[in-house]
Amino acid sequence: MRTLFNWAEQKHCALVAFNISNMEVMKGLTTALNDLDCPAILQVSAGARRYTGADYLRALFDTAQANTKQTLILHLDHGDSFELCKDCIDHGFDSVMIDGSHLPFAENIALTKKVVDYAHAHDVWVEGELGEICGIEDAVNVAHSKYTDPDKAREFVARTGVDSLAVSIGTAHGAYKYAAGSTPKLRYDILKQIHAAIPDTPLVLHGASSVIPEYIATINQFGGAIKNAMGIHERELARTIDDGVRKINIDSDLRLAVTATIRQYFHDQPAVFDPRSYWTAAMKAVTAVAERKLKYYTLRNVKSLGEDSH
Ligand code: G3H
Ligand code: 13P
Ligand code: ZN
Repeated sequence: MRTLFNWAEQKHCALVAFNISNMEVMKGLTTALNDLDCPAILQVSAGARRYTGADYLRALFDTAQANTKQTLILHLDHGDSFELCKDCIDHGFDSVMIDGSHLPFAENIALTKKVVDYAHAHDVWVEGELGEICGIEDAVNVAHSKYTDPDKAREFVARTGVDSLAVSIGTAHGAYKYAAGSTPKLRYDILKQIHAAIPDTPLVLHGASSVIPEYIATINQFGGAIKNAMGIHERELARTIDDGVRKINIDSDLRLAVTATIRQYFHDQPAVFDPRSYWTAAMKAVTAVAERKLKYYTLRNVKSLGEDSH
């Protein structure tokens, strides 16, 4: 992880961390990494571990690694306890996130430090979080987030020894990031202050899906009901790279691409019932989304994206 972050620092780019929980998404991502000759982080949430199973996920990751010459990092996303982080470290994860952001400051420090002590003894990278990034459910969006305090960020990093820090500057998880009719806003000013306070700590942007309007439209056109979904365009999110963001997390855009593709497929080809048919189409959509993110954030090759309609 350190090597990759150093590489990203030198190239002045951000690594993309994609959430994985099944073979098709994993294969679609691997194709993107091979096509573009680009590394990435693959991360699993506690929910993904429950759904897929730790052993299946491990086997998927190892198989993906065997099918690419790219460096892949296996990372725990939003670890919520020392025990979960320890379990992942014991099972060979390269990196874990301990998310104590909902806890009082002192408790977040104590929990994060406990994970850091164990992880560093096993040569594993630790991402912490300060400030609260909300989202996931439509009733909870960025309006409820608490921005990261730059002074507290300095103290947090000094007292925990954490390797990278997830910050809250106006992104939110899920597809409903902003209230209907509002204008999404990122607090670049706060990000700048955080980066100045902890210039040697790579910053992490959660809730960084753009909620690509074309996929939302397709989902709604073919029977879905995703109303008032909203995100921020990649070109706005990419500006955070100038102020120390070196890891950008993407989950919802992959979910939306898969759902849109399968919904349209069912409509266009109602007689097909072999899941391999529609999953092949969905895998291609995963590859397309992943390539788009890698071009914006890691390769910084925006020109190759061509005309962008949203
Ligand atoms: O930040 C959260 C990720 O999108 C993971 O979501 O807990 O539903 O797997 P999940
Ligand atoms: P999105 O829901 O915006 O994709 O965020 C994913 C994330 O932050 C995973 O930790
Ligand atoms: Zn997250």
